[in-house]
Formats: sequence, C-alpha cells, structure tokens
Amino acid sequence: MEKKINIFLVGTGNVGKSLIELIAHDNLYKIAGKKFRIRIIGIANRSKMYFSRQSINANKWKSLLTKGKTANVDLFIETMKHYKLPDTILVDCMNGDEISRYYKVILKQFPIVASNKSSNSGSYKNYSAIRDTIKKYNTDFRYSANVGVGLPSTDIINSFLSGGDKVTAIEGLFSSTMNYLLDKLLTTDKPFSRLLVEAKEKGLTEPDPRNDLNGIDTARKILILARESGAKIEMNDIKIENLVPVILRNIKSLDKFYHSIKIADSKFDAMKRVAMKNKRKLVYSARFKDNKASVGIEMVDAVHPFYSVSANEKVVLFYTEFFKHHPLVIKGESGGAKETASVLISDILKTVL
Ligand SMILES: NC(=O)c1ccc[n+]([C@@H]2O[C@H](COP(=O)([O-])OP(=O)(O)OC[C@H]3O[C@@H](n4cnc5c(N)ncnc54)[C@H](OP(=O)(O)O)[C@@H]3O)[C@@H](O)[C@H]2O)c1
Repeated sequence: MEKKINIFLVGTGNVGKSLIELIAHDNLYKIAGKKFRIRIIGIANRSKMYFSRQSINANKWKSLLTKGKTANVDLFIETMKHYKLPDTILVDCMNGDEISRYYKVILKQFPIVASNKSSNSGSYKNYSAIRDTIKKYNTDFRYSANVGVGLPSTDIINSFLSGGDKVTAIEGLFSSTMNYLLDKLLTTDKPFSRLLVEAKEKGLTEPDPRNDLNGIDTARKILILARESGAKIEMNDIKIENLVPVILRNIKSLDKFYHSIKIADSKFDAMKRVAMKNKRKLVYSARFKDNKASVGIEMVDAVHPFYSVSANEKVVLFYTEFFKHHPLVIKGESGGAKETASVLISDILKTVL
C-alpha cells in the first residue's frame, strides 16, 4: 500500500523545474518499509496556473501550464482547499513574497515546504506569527533548502537546541558567486570585472549580478540561522557590505553595468595585494554573535577554517556552549537547483512521516 503525497507547486524557475524533473524521473520513495508517491496536483508561475485532481503528467507540465488559467494566488489556495485531497502540501519555489504573505492562512490547513527564503527573512513579527500558527494548528513548515543547500544547517541548530545546547555564534560562507570571485581573484591574474563576466558565462551569478554583490542574499541566510538559534533580529539590524559601487546601483542596462564595473578593479586589486603580502585569503563572510550580525569581505589566515574552502564549496561554523573553543564545521560542495530540489523532496517526505 502506498501513501500519496499531493503537492501544489508555486514557481517553475530553476528550482521548481528541477523538482518536477526529479518527480518525472521517479516519484516513488521507500522509507522504513513504507511507500510514498509524490504527485503534482497544481503548478503555478507568474503568469499561469494549472491543476489536475488525478495528478499532472510531470513530463508534459510545460505545455499543460501554457494552457492553464491566468495565475491568481487566491484562486490557487482556494483550489488546494476545494480538492480536499489528503496529505496536500504547498511547495514554494517562488522568488518573491506573493505566496509567503499567505503562509499564515495556508498553514491552518496545509504544511508548507519552501526553498523561498521570503517568509523566514521577512519581519520578525511575521516570523513569530508563523511559528504560533504552526503550534496552534499542529502543522508543519520545512525549509532545509533556505540556507546552504545540502548542508543541514537549520537541522543542526534544531538538534543543538533540543539537546539543551545554546548557539553562541555562527560564521559562514554562503555565496557561491563570491567564493568563486574571491578565490579566482587571488589565484589568477584576472581583474575582478573580468572574473565577474566569466562567472556569469559559467551560470554562477544571478541574472543581475548586483544581487550577488549587494550581500542581501547572504544577509538573509545569516538572519535565518540567527533566528533559528533564538535571536529576535531583523534584516535592518544586519551590517551589510554592498560591493556594488554606489554609482552603479541604479544603472538599468546590464551591459552598461558590466562595462562600468571596471571601476571596482583597483579596489579589489589593492585588497588582493594586502591579502597576498600577509599570506591571507579574501572571503565574503556572514557572522552572527551576541545578537548582532554582519556580512562583508574579510581576510583570514591559514588557521581559520575559511582558508581551506575552495571556489565551489560552502561552509558554516557553529559555536555553542558545548562547541566553545572548536566550532562544529560543516562544509561541502555548493549546491545548485538540482541539489535544492533534492532537499525539497526530503522535506516533503518528512512532513508525512
Ligand atoms: N537556485 C538555487 O540554487 C536556490 C537555492 C536555494 C534557494 N533558492 C530559492 O528558491 C527560490 C526559487 O529559486 P530559482 O532559482 O528557481 O528562481 P527563479 O529561476 O527566478 O524562479 C522563480 C519562479 O518564481 C515564479 N514566480 C515569481 N513570482 C511569482 C508569482 N507572483 N506567482 C507565481 N510564481 C511566481 C517565477 O515565475 P516565471 O517563471 O513566470 O517568471 C519563476 O517560475 C528563490 O526564492 C531562491 O532564493 C534557490
């Protein structure tokens, strides 16, 4: 006998698409002698939404979605309710807060699994209200893919807390793009602007690389880990070093931006010279301690765990009352959309186990 898990997926970009591909490849999962089948019942992107009570053929979702109705968040949620299918889950792979604004309403009836960080990195008031809703309605919200894809950072914090430990500080390198750029800056003769173009050509940057350089995404991640550790902290409390030169922040044309970013080369070259002279490495790190968090460039020496992190790795260091002098370090390959999708599958299964 297999249990059917019925998912309603919002967002069919890199992550959403990878999730559908994984489900198309194999949607039957065997855990502890039980069988679970993940079925996609609803899909939406910014323009369209499509539903099938009998489940959507994951190999044909694109053409089916094109034929769907005009996207509408209220109608999407109403359809989830109307179908009354057991083990229904909302999976949020969107890149904005249009659906997370409704989490409190959705969680009254359905669990949520999200790669989208909007809810956890919004206001603390909303963060706290979501936790109250989860308790009140005995429901579930899982977001292991929010931080450090594949590195079980939020799970580790929860296991510290449930074991009576207290997190005292967190440090991490969360941006694959910045890890790549700063590693190559020190290990090649190429200027920063050239490396940025190469990172774009390799598909490592956001469509607008200013979203990597401005530090917001890294700040969201340390905010989420800090909150998970119990801190009542807001995004505005985080000191963020924005690496986009002020005069390039509002340029509309990306071509013009790529051309103009050459003005940052001399600053990065100067940092490189200081780092090399002092046998140090440049990293774009996030730190949290004593209810304060910051994100920015720093130089680390060879004894620091960041020093050995390669261009395609991520790392998180946890200091706790038990791990006082030697932090617990989790480190591993930087994940992409496919790895994120796999973490989502694991979260989906945990909601029904
Ligand atoms: N990429 C990664 O490796 C990774 C890793 C961890 C977490 N995440 C997070 O996961 C989320 C998805 O990432 P991604 O890389 O897949 O982003 P993406 O490629 O930009 O895709 C975002 C999707 O959200 C949809 N969307 C935006 N506004 C919407 C709305 N109002 N209603 C319905 N759909 C809407 C977009 O629709 P259209 O297709 O119509 O534009 C698109 O399908 C983001 O929040 C990201 O921060 C990503």
